[in-house]
Amino acid sequence: MKLELNKVTKKYKEKVALHDISCTFTNGVYGLLGPNGAGKTTLLRILADVLKPTNGTITFNEQNIYKLDYKYRDLLGYLPQDCGFYPNFTAHRYLQYIAALKGLPKQQVEQKIDEMLAVVHLTPYKKVKIRKFSGGMKQRLGIAQSLLNDPKLLLLDEPTAGLDPKERIRFRNLISELAQERIILLSTHITTDIEAIASEIIILKDGQLLEQNKPDKLLEKLQQQVWHVSLPATQLNELYKRHIVGHIHQKGNDIEARVIATKQPSDDAILQTPRLEDIYLYYFGDVMDKQEVNNDDQT
Ligand SMILES: Nc1ncnc2c1ncn2[C@@H]1O[C@H](COP(=O)(O)OP(=O)(O)OP(=O)(O)O)[C@@H](O)[C@H]1O
Ligand SMILES: [Mg+2]
Repeated sequence: MKLELNKVTKKYKEKVALHDISCTFTNGVYGLLGPNGAGKTTLLRILADVLKPTNGTITFNEQNIYKLDYKYRDLLGYLPQDCGFYPNFTAHRYLQYIAALKGLPKQQVEQKIDEMLAVVHLTPYKKVKIRKFSGGMKQRLGIAQSLLNDPKLLLLDEPTAGLDPKERIRFRNLISELAQERIILLSTHITTDIEAIASEIIILKDGQLLEQNKPDKLLEKLQQQVWHVSLPATQLNELYKRHIVGHIHQKGNDIEARVIATKQPSDDAILQTPRLEDIYLYYFGDVMDKQEVNNDDQT
């Protein structure tokens, strides 16, 4: 399978949300990484055919997706960022409704619903109304509906938002299991969600595609550039001015910090093995609030 975007641009009036995006997806898991407003949802909505691009073409196996029409949509599973639910529906009723929308053969529906509820660990809640669900449970129900038609192309917009750590690990394992014979695109801010499972990572910033590469190739970029430094807390502001600063740790009057710098930032700085979160900082450090970095460290 091959999904190809050629110079896709999306404008909302004056705002250019996507600019000239060209990329190719074949079977595998693709992590769409970018800060708020980068264009991730816009890109996924275009691929899910709920939004039309202003310019550019999209082909699936060399055929224009708008010519393929329902044949394309039948291949899709889509988890929107804000998955709307009818609060008075039970999980079961909701999945029946989605199954009908997707045109699943009637005789398969009940078995498929039970299967999907089991996959997202919601079987005991089958007959419970959605208004009683927690945020994470709703998210899991959203993942279940996206998988109902066994989609060849799975589009997940921040699928792990609201999931607790245990469910995040289960989700990661599920995606790895599903990855064969499918194209899976998932957007996230959480680099650890995709570090281990993404075959490729796409970095979006201000509507532009900055990188599409395998995780290890991205990490190679930062070889010899990630450092552990220790310095008096009073010098922290100076450090922020000169370098991209990641996690910091207060130790008495001193600060230990992870720093991205092309040259050794201080005599006692020790080289670290780059991680995907360093890549995130490298590309987006300038748009991240210092406060946010501080808060990040406390979680
Ligand atoms: N319906 C709309 N009308 C006008 N501008 C929009 C609309 N939807 C999105 N935008 C703008 O387009 C840009 C990209 O938005 P998008 O929702 O695709 O970003 P995102 O990467 O999904 O962000 P987030 O991480 O916050 O979900 C943003 O600047 C946003 O304000
Ligand atoms: Mg979004």
